[in-house]
Amino acid sequence: MEATFNNKAALVTGAGSGIGRATALAFARAGASVAVADWDEAGASETVRLIDAIGGKAIGVKVDVSIPAQVEAMVDQALKAFGRLDAACNNAGIGGPLAFTADYPIDEWDKVIAINLRGVFLCMRAELPHLLKQGGAIVNVASILGNVGFANASAYTAAKHGVVGLTKTAALEYSAKGVRVNAICPAFIETPMLEKAGLLADPVAKQGLIGVHPIGRLGTSEEIADTIVWLASPAAAFVTGAAVLADGGYCAQ
Ligand code: NAI
Repeated sequence: MEATFNNKAALVTGAGSGIGRATALAFARAGASVAVADWDEAGASETVRLIDAIGGKAIGVKVDVSIPAQVEAMVDQALKAFGRLDAACNNAGIGGPLAFTADYPIDEWDKVIAINLRGVFLCMRAELPHLLKQGGAIVNVASILGNVGFANASAYTAAKHGVVGLTKTAALEYSAKGVRVNAICPAFIETPMLEKAGLLADPVAKQGLIGVHPIGRLGTSEEIADTIVWLASPAAAFVTGAAVLADGGYCAQ
């Protein structure tokens, strides 16, 4: 992917941690200038520092992806800094609490949908007019849970299925106009999200999680980042409207 994105600009949301940080770094390694967007300013600053350290170009942008005015301002800041937008990875997301559907707290449901689904819609809405200027690509970060169900995670699973639907719809609308739109669907990836959910510290829980992946391990942020940058690159020129599994075989079972 080296030099694929020379003189191009990419925007990554949720880039202050985990998959988003690895994706911002991968875009920078591929030559892109990167807008590193997150509501966690310290996390975004650290990603910018890591990109600076490898000789890349990046700006940090504070944003809550569920708030329309902040999303518009995020895209404006990226354009002001780099003059163009060629690739966008809509990755910001939260896990939400775990509870059976009848017990799921309504305010938590609304929060997960606001960030994980409405946030992706708002980002696409703000990004598309600028991607259309010279052509480009969107990669939305969905999940295996955009393809299959998962007990105790109704809001997350509904949001991720929604992201896959949004992706397919936008691909129908914009692919012939030069903007490809895809989703990536990772299985369980070792990131702070899983740490915060307490799934990595307990060796029994971690082993259980590993056990549902035919490949025999969890994924890494870098593996997902590389697939995202590939999907956004000309190497994936005929791929659009796809929900690409990067799941160690999870959904093959
Ligand atoms: P993470 O918790 O390490 O990173 C998520 C980032 O998003 C954080 O920096 C957080 O501050 C930011 N964020 C959250 N809400 C935000 C908001 N409203 N506005 C702006 N930034 C916000 O999580 P991870 O694991 O890197 O997740 C990234 C994406 O990948 C999420 O969409 C998640 O659902 C998805 N995913 C993760 C999997 C995993 O096993 N870790 C598996 C499949 C999908």
